Amino acid sequence: MTLVAIGACYIDTILTVPHYPGEDEKLRSSSLCRRRGGNCPNTLEVLGQLLQHGPRTEGSMLNLISVLPSLSSVSSNKIQEGLGILVDIKNCIYREQFSEPASSYIIMSQASGSRTIVNYNELPEMTRDEFASAIEPFHAASEVPWFHFEGRAPGVTIECIHHIRSRFPEALVSVEVEKPGRLGLQKLAEAGDVVIYSKGWAQSNGYTTAEECLRKQMPQTRRASLLCCTWGDEGAAALEPKTGNFAHIPAHTSEQIVDTIGAGDTFIAGLLYGLIYRSKDWDFPRRLEFANHLAGLKVTQEGFKDLH
Ligand code: FRU
Repeated sequence: MTLVAIGACYIDTILTVPHYPGEDEKLRSSSLCRRRGGNCPNTLEVLGQLLQHGPRTEGSMLNLISVLPSLSSVSSNKIQEGLGILVDIKNCIYREQFSEPASSYIIMSQASGSRTIVNYNELPEMTRDEFASAIEPFHAASEVPWFHFEGRAPGVTIECIHHIRSRFPEALVSVEVEKPGRLGLQKLAEAGDVVIYSKGWAQSNGYTTAEECLRKQMPQTRRASLLCCTWGDEGAAALEPKTGNFAHIPAHTSEQIVDTIGAGDTFIAGLLYGLIYRSKDWDFPRRLEFANHLAGLKVTQEGFKDLH
């Protein structure tokens, strides 16, 4: 099956520091790393590896819809190279007058494992009409794609989901509800078939556990067949509103935490892999367990290579 993931792409500049600096402090970083980031690109990079190494790859295609700089820019070429051969970026929205993608500057503290992110983006956001044109080619495909949204720019994203509902009525839509304090994410959750909440969003809405978030969200997310919530080192929970199935699993504990950036994106890759590509042979707890395990593995290594 084809997956279309819609979200921003960044170039991440990551400084690893022994502890998070105080304001106006001087601190020496133990390493500097620059790599492609962005929630959906990170998820697709991991999914590409799972499909390449997993049992059912034929006909599976992974597509990114993101706003990128000019098609001929060095950055856009590098972004394609880094995503691997199963990820297609030809339906992205290219801003020809720009040569640089959005950037994130990230401070990763070894003491706490936290990653503090400051973004800069001068590429104009995608509009609903640009999105509608970008997904039109999928109408000719033999199978209805699965659409996954990073929940950003909620006003436009909700219009995009409405467009999918009218143009691809059979399609399933998953939505990530991540950023604390971003207004409008609740509306996106209500429009999704699968909703993945972050701990940060849940806490900013007053929930104190993953289970509480899911149970209290359930009456508002009537369309959803699966709700999931990740809770950092306390693991993750999932609830199937239609069957009442609930599971909470502890975090996959690891000896050494090396890089937590994109752990949530990796969890989503594992979850989507189970839902889309192992829907027949994996049951509900196995899919959650797999996503959790993959995210646990990710934090023990730098970047996203060899996660399969
Ligand atoms: C990690 C990440 C980074 C990116 C930032 C965007 O989840 O996708 O790769 O810079 O978040 O908010």
